[in-house]
Amino acid sequence: MLYLDTAASYPILPEVRQQLMNTFESTYANSASSHKLGEESATAINKVRELLADSIGAYASEIIFTSGATESNNIALKSLLLGKELPENKKHIITSQIEHKCIFAICDYLENIGYEITYLRPNEHGIITTTAVNDAITEQTALVSIMHVNNELGTINPIGEIGEICFNNNVLFHSDAAQSYGKLEIDVDDLNVDIMSFSAHKIAGPKGIGALYIRDLRKKHLLPVIHGAGQEEGLRGGTVATPLILGFGTAIETFPAHYDNFKKIMAKQHLITMLDQNSIPYQINGGTDVLAHCISLTLPSTDVSLLIRDNENEFCLAQGSACSSKEIEASHVLTALGLTRELADCTLRISFPLDIELLQINKLVQAIKKATK
Ligand SMILES: Cc1ncc(COP(=O)(O)O)c(C=O)c1O
Repeated sequence: MLYLDTAASYPILPEVRQQLMNTFESTYANSASSHKLGEESATAINKVRELLADSIGAYASEIIFTSGATESNNIALKSLLLGKELPENKKHIITSQIEHKCIFAICDYLENIGYEITYLRPNEHGIITTTAVNDAITEQTALVSIMHVNNELGTINPIGEIGEICFNNNVLFHSDAAQSYGKLEIDVDDLNVDIMSFSAHKIAGPKGIGALYIRDLRKKHLLPVIHGAGQEEGLRGGTVATPLILGFGTAIETFPAHYDNFKKIMAKQHLITMLDQNSIPYQINGGTDVLAHCISLTLPSTDVSLLIRDNENEFCLAQGSACSSKEIEASHVLTALGLTRELADCTLRISFPLDIELLQINKLVQAIKKATK
């Protein structure tokens, strides 16, 4: 089975698996306990906190661990806005039409309690432009939330410039970096980011663990998402998941080198060459500034449903993002780009695994050819 859905989730790296096994065996004490083993757990967790902070130019005190990017996005928007951090009149949020669905769900909730939301449309290349953000900011704008890399297209938003606009307008800037972290350089100061969300399973770490960066966290008045016994700066209670955090740490340390090696395979270029050689009509959604492992491919002459059905034991392929693939409606990202329902229906999101081989891509192209008129 060829797994082509790493944008939804990577299989864990062998190094991560080993770390998890070791930690389940040995680092089992509650990190809040004051005995020796408890302190060892707390120290190990804080090392990963430092590792993540160092990798993005932040302080360890500005990082909290969460269950993943969905929870991080919830804390980013709800805890800040509902935590008496901002003046009462600041009730406007700017986000985009191509965010992950969890941002829409959070914004729906905030809209119901009196916030006004502006959803920016991407340009024809799937990018949220600085002009769009600049034009949408008003006196009431509290926060701008624009993802770093889109999960269906792999496109990279100009978040450094967007962050600068926010900074100049005294507006908080949040970016969902679930898809970019470990694949692109991130420095929260260079990018003018105030809040950033991360997820371990997008860098071949364990599922169920992520993190949130909040600039000057300890000086902020934030509403907890889970009221508990004070863990993670009182923002999300519950015993801290030591094994998952240590597995995340190993992914932080090892994934970038694996990804650099993967890039040398030039998998996407090979796929495009093979499509051309086989005269298969296609259109690539999103511009040229796209991550190496991801491609959104519209195949107008191919029966994509047939392709997926006939090859369900050969390839794991996604139409749109994982969260929406069981829904009948067309991908919100593709419709925001202006694709018709018909074209959206014959679009594949292919995201390559780290160890893909060119011969496997040839096999995929042969299967596509078979399903093409
Ligand atoms: C951009 C983006 N944000 C958020 C999420 C949700 O992440 P998690 O599964 O860690 O909650 C995903 C993953 O599907 C994503 O791609």
